Amino acid sequence: MADPTDKMESIINLCKRRGFVFPSSDIYGGFNGFFDYGPLGVELKNNIKQAWWQDFVHRRDDIVGLDSSIIHHPTTWKASGHIDNFTDPLVDCKESKMRYRADQLFFAPVRVAGETIGYVSVLEDETMQAKAEELANELKRKLAKQGALEPLALKDYTEAKPEEHALIPSPATGKPGSLTPPRSFNMMFQTYVGAMQDASATAYLRPETAQGIFINFKNVVDTGRVKLPFGIAQVGKAFRNEINPRNFIFRSREFEQMEIEYFIAPSADWAVAHQDWIEGCLAWFESIGIPRAKLSLYPHPTEKLAHYSKGTTDIMFEFPFGVQELQGVAARGDFDLTQHSEVSGTKLDWFDEAAKARFIPHVIEPSVGVDRVFLALLTTAYHEDEVEGEKRVVLRLPARVAPFKAAVFPLLKNKPALVERAEALYRRLKKRFNVFYDESGNIGRRYRRQDEIGTPFGITIDFDTVEKDAGVTVRNRDTLEQVRMTEDEVVRFLDEQVNGR
Ligand code: GAP
Repeated sequence: MADPTDKMESIINLCKRRGFVFPSSDIYGGFNGFFDYGPLGVELKNNIKQAWWQDFVHRRDDIVGLDSSIIHHPTTWKASGHIDNFTDPLVDCKESKMRYRADQLFFAPVRVAGETIGYVSVLEDETMQAKAEELANELKRKLAKQGALEPLALKDYTEAKPEEHALIPSPATGKPGSLTPPRSFNMMFQTYVGAMQDASATAYLRPETAQGIFINFKNVVDTGRVKLPFGIAQVGKAFRNEINPRNFIFRSREFEQMEIEYFIAPSADWAVAHQDWIEGCLAWFESIGIPRAKLSLYPHPTEKLAHYSKGTTDIMFEFPFGVQELQGVAARGDFDLTQHSEVSGTKLDWFDEAAKARFIPHVIEPSVGVDRVFLALLTTAYHEDEVEGEKRVVLRLPARVAPFKAAVFPLLKNKPALVERAEALYRRLKKRFNVFYDESGNIGRRYRRQDEIGTPFGITIDFDTVEKDAGVTVRNRDTLEQVRMTEDEVVRFLDEQVNGR
C-alpha cells in the first residue's frame, strides 16, 4: 500500500470499524473538526497520557502536576495576548461561501513568453506545485497562448498585493473575482458565563492549557516543595476554532494537549535547557514507539519568532500526508509571568534564598497534542502483511500503549475444562491489565481480530494446559512466535512488557 492517501483512508476506516475514533455526532452527519474516541480509542489515548504523566511527572523529582479549569477569568487571555493576537489569516470565497486559511492558499501568476495571462491557485499540500502547473497549462491551452510557460513561483495568499486579490481564482470555483482580502480571525471559542449574554459575561474556552499553569504559578510555589528549576505539567482539552480542520484528528477544533512549563533562573543558559528538552522529548517519543527516523526538527527562523520567544523548535513527524508538527518546544523567556504579574497586580516571582534576590523565572515549554501522538502511533503501527497465506491488518503498537495488553482464548469453546481455565486466567490478569477474552470462531480468526487492534499477545489455553499442566501458549503478534509459560510467568511477563523491567 504505497499510496499515502490509501494508508490514511485505511487507518480512518479501521478507526471507525474497530471503535478507535468516530466522527463526532455521527448520527447527525458528523460535525467538522470534532471527533469521538470509541472504546479502543479511549484506551490508547489514556495510555499515551498515562505514559507521559509517568515519565514526566511521577518518574522525575522536578515536575509537579496541575489540573486547572478550562474556562479562566477572561482577563487571562487579554494578558497572554490571545485576545489580540491569537488569529489566523482568513479568506472567504464570496461565491462558494468556502473559507480558507490565507497562509494555506497558494497562488502564482501564469506567465507565457513574458506576458501574464492569468493566475492559478491551489491549496497547500505535498503535490501543490504539480497541481498548479497542470492548471497553468490548462489556462494556456484555453487562451491559446503560444510560447514557453515560465516556472511558477507559488506564494501564499497573505503575500498577495491588493491589486492581485481580484485576479486570483478561488480554489472552489476556479474563477477570479470572488476571494476577499485576508483578514484576521480570532480562533478562540467564546461563551457566556452566568445568565447575562452580553460583553461583560464573555469568556473563552482555553485554546491551550499553558495559561492555566502560569496563572497558578504562585499557588504551586506557595504550596508545593518545588525548587528552581522545576516544571508544572498539565494534560487537558484545548479548543480552537480552526478555519480549516483537516487530516483526520491532526488538526481539529477540540483536542488535548500535554504541556509543561519548565521554569529556570534568568541567569541559566536557556539555549542549553531548550536543547535538553528537545532531546528529552525525542527520546520519549522513541520510548513509546515513534521511530527516530520519522522525526525531524524544525527550528523557527529568528525573524518569524513571536516577539517574546527566544527560540522555538518544532518536532516534526512524517505523517502519511507530509512532514508536520508533532510538538513545539519554545523558550518563552519571562513573557507570560511578567504579563500576568502586571495585569493582575499579583507578584509572580521567585525568591532565591542563596542570592537573597527576587526575579521572574524564564520558561521552556514543551507542548504536544495527544491526538497527534495518537495519529503518529497509529500511522507508525499500521501494517498489512500475510500470515499463513491470509492477508492481515496488524497494528504493531508497543504493549505500553496498546488498548489491550493480551487476549485470552480457550482453544475450543465447547470444552468446559478449557473454558473454565481460560476464564480464570482472564479474571486474574484483568485485575492488573486491560485484557480481552474471546472464545468465538477458530483460533486463527481470533488472533487476526486482535492483531488488527494492536493486542501484542494472544494467550491460548489448550489440552496440554489442562491435562498436563504444561502452561499456556503466548503468541507474539509481531514475530508470530509461540512460547509456553506458566500462568505465574504470564503475569510477570506482561508486567515487564507493559511497565518495563
Ligand atoms: N502552549 C503552546 C501551544 O499551544 P501550539 O504549537 O499552538 O503551542 C502545541 O500547540 C501542540 O498542540 C502542537 O504541537 C500540536 O501537537 C497540538 N495542536 C495544536 N493545534 C492543534 C489542533 N488544532 N488539533 C490537534 N492538535 C493541535
